Amino acid sequence: MIILGIESSCDETSAAILKQHNGRIQILSNIIGSSALEQATYGGVIPEQAAREQLRLIIPVIEEALHKASVETRDIDAIAVTYGPGLIGSLLIGVETAKVLALNFNKPLIPVNHLVGHFYANWIEQENHLLPTFPCLGLLVSGGHSDLVLFKEHGEYQYLGGTRDDAAGECFDKCARLLGYPYPGGPKISKLAEKGNPKAYVLPRPMSDSKDLDFSFSGLKTAFANLVNMHFKVSNLSEDNAKYHWQHIVIDSNKLKGNEQLIADLCASLEQAIIDSLIHKTLTAAKQYNIEQLIVAGGVAANKKLISELKIKFKGTVISPETVLCTDNAAMIAAAAFFQEKTKESSDLQANPNLTL
Ligand code: KG4
Ligand code: ZN
Repeated sequence: MIILGIESSCDETSAAILKQHNGRIQILSNIIGSSALEQATYGGVIPEQAAREQLRLIIPVIEEALHKASVETRDIDAIAVTYGPGLIGSLLIGVETAKVLALNFNKPLIPVNHLVGHFYANWIEQENHLLPTFPCLGLLVSGGHSDLVLFKEHGEYQYLGGTRDDAAGECFDKCARLLGYPYPGGPKISKLAEKGNPKAYVLPRPMSDSKDLDFSFSGLKTAFANLVNMHFKVSNLSEDNAKYHWQHIVIDSNKLKGNEQLIADLCASLEQAIIDSLIHKTLTAAKQYNIEQLIVAGGVAANKKLISELKIKFKGTVISPETVLCTDNAAMIAAAAFFQEKTKESSDLQANPNLTL
């Protein structure tokens, strides 16, 4: 069975061809176009700009995916597409393209929840990668989500908890921005953190005492902002615009020069606080539900320190995808579709920006 996957929920435009053979799911191609460079200039994703770029990229990306996989449209058994959650303009590009292709080539259309898709990156065959078994606990850590999910079977899962405010990735991105680094800031923070002392600064681990399985990262972001502000004295605000404090204390990158160790220590302390918060609730959930297998997914799963600390502290197996399959990509969407029976008539499928797990 061969599936064409399409993903366009945020700033990436991706198409992938995956093949299932003897129970193994293999990538024939996974093309990812991104407008991250343009977004970097503005410090985040501008929805209209991302969608305009996706409109330009979607057909070339699909053509390249077919070409690279040496597959013709007639060889495809189904088309899978992300229909939510995400930015409405971005989602529409993928959904409407998939609908037209399904109708034109008479293929079944499989709508995939982007969040579920992230987890299914773990079901793709990869080097030195163990395939998950049920039951397992899922930790999704991306730019928009930080969720704990209990997987009982394919299509049978239970939401256990999630962030009450910012996501872990968002916390990385916003704190990086405070230091003058462009979006996405997670990889930059983790690179700088390698040379820093994670105990250099005391930062909060929000909600670590709460009895639920929820996370919170906005207070941590504020604490980090205060630290940056203290070191670089860049904020000089009146009462009136104090509520816009957050946007105003981005520092000039020239001020970072000569302060490399300080920056590294700030980054390491921040990274450690995020990792500790994530690990604490993950271990609590595993204990509560007596689970011995953990699957990690989403962009922040590309963080090597998070995965290595989880492997040390989690009593059981920790499975995470290779970096390119952690961040948004269409291969994970096609992978999820192999396990989803429900197809949709093209005319019935609607993008849903607020879709939940
Ligand atoms: O899953 P993803 O590509 O997009 C969403 O669905 O949100 O995740 C993007 C997020 C960004 O916040 C980015 O900063 C973060 O993943 N990220 C990382 C790393 N690589 C990407 N965060 C920490 N460490 C990394 N190595
Ligand atoms: Zn994502």
